[in-house]
Amino acid sequence: MEIAIVGTGYVGLVSGTCLADIGHQVYCVDIDQEKINKLKKGIIPIFEPGLEQLVKHNQAAGRLHFDISLKRVLPKVKAVFIAVGTPSAPDGRADLQYVYAVANEIAANITDYKVIVDKSTVPVGTAQEVEKIIRQKYQGDFDVVSCPEFLREGSAIADFAQPDRVVIGARTKRAADLMLEIFQPLKGEKFVTSVPSAEMIKYASNAFLATKISFINEISQICHKTGADVEEVAYGVGLDSRIGPKFLKAGIGWGGSCFPKDVKALDQIAGDNGYDFRLLKSVIEVNQNQRRHFVARVKNSLGDLAGKKLAVLGLAFKAKTDDIRESAAIDIIKILLAEGALINAFDYEATANARKVLGDSVKYHTDPYTALKGAEAVLLVTEWPQFKALDWDKIKNLIKQPLVFDGRNLLDRSKMKEIGYHYCSIGQEDIRQK
Ligand code: UDX
Repeated sequence: MEIAIVGTGYVGLVSGTCLADIGHQVYCVDIDQEKINKLKKGIIPIFEPGLEQLVKHNQAAGRLHFDISLKRVLPKVKAVFIAVGTPSAPDGRADLQYVYAVANEIAANITDYKVIVDKSTVPVGTAQEVEKIIRQKYQGDFDVVSCPEFLREGSAIADFAQPDRVVIGARTKRAADLMLEIFQPLKGEKFVTSVPSAEMIKYASNAFLATKISFINEISQICHKTGADVEEVAYGVGLDSRIGPKFLKAGIGWGGSCFPKDVKALDQIAGDNGYDFRLLKSVIEVNQNQRRHFVARVKNSLGDLAGKKLAVLGLAFKAKTDDIRESAAIDIIKILLAEGALINAFDYEATANARKVLGDSVKYHTDPYTALKGAEAVLLVTEWPQFKALDWDKIKNLIKQPLVFDGRNLLDRSKMKEIGYHYCSIGQEDIRQK
């Protein structure tokens, strides 16, 4: 089927490429001429494992096209996916100006039946608003459906290809059938529901996952104080099939482009509808505290941080991405800088993005070992698996004292003990050498 995807950000580019890969003719549209020029040459603006090859493969197969004009693309397609950004406004609400701008452009150019698909995460009622905008200028037949995306950065292609579910919020059978046809090649349950329910499913899913993480992070605080080990606790709890093992990894709190934005937006949606979502407010607070507790433990060990050299391993909000949006690593670095610490940082992909927000306040390294040299403590804050494979015997001789704070419980505890590190992880007893 011929499909337009408007917005070549993370969601748009991954969804567009993957839809082309399952056989559709996809036209990715973006107003950024430079971005489109680059994409046409197979240069992609984000780091996502496997994406570049997939873009090139589908371009070469003649299924994936890039254009700056929705007006030009619209007559060729049956469905238009809106995948533009919905950033947080200062009050936490989702800023919908880009979604509405696309709706206006569709309204100005639509001439026959189309299905308009909200792929961006938008508050309940947005599809109705999009419909109103188009209806003002076009009286013909069209449908607006909600089809939220559940892709995770770093594993987006696999998430698309093997979804747990595809949620389709549609008002008419005609629209639902067209959406089912688009996603027919994919396994996983296709759940057709009302438009508002589909919009809410996305927020509820992300809020629930964030809650699950904040919950285990709270448990980690008590574990640390009682001698229980949060890794064992999470494993034992996760064996209960009603709970499940996923998203129970304690750490320094969730970040990224979705959880923080969507959790805040859901709290706003609740408030706008006269409901105080107290649980969600606590989930956010716990998440912030988790970062602060981590820094407090560093301070407890080192005392005044002013002028102290700290090595920070990781900048991205999680492994396998260059994304630093709402990254716990960045938040922690900002607190440490405010305390006067000297930060030497290393990340496998996110350094360029981190530099945009932290500037020269941090010394960036292209090699983890040089970042570690002479450090008074090592702070591991992004769970890149490569950090586990570093030569920790060698590192012990590079750093000033063998003190490691593992904010992701990534490293091998017993090995760290054996090498002779003071090893402080999350929700576990500190290993202190005599
Ligand atoms: C998330 C949702 O998972 C995805 O469905 C949605 O479409 C977009 O938002 P993403 O932001 O890519 O995806 O990252 P995810 O893997 O979900 O992790 C989010 C944050 O939670 C990261 O900071 C991660 O480090 C943290 N996390 C995740 C934990 O601290 N513990 C866990 O057990 C899982």
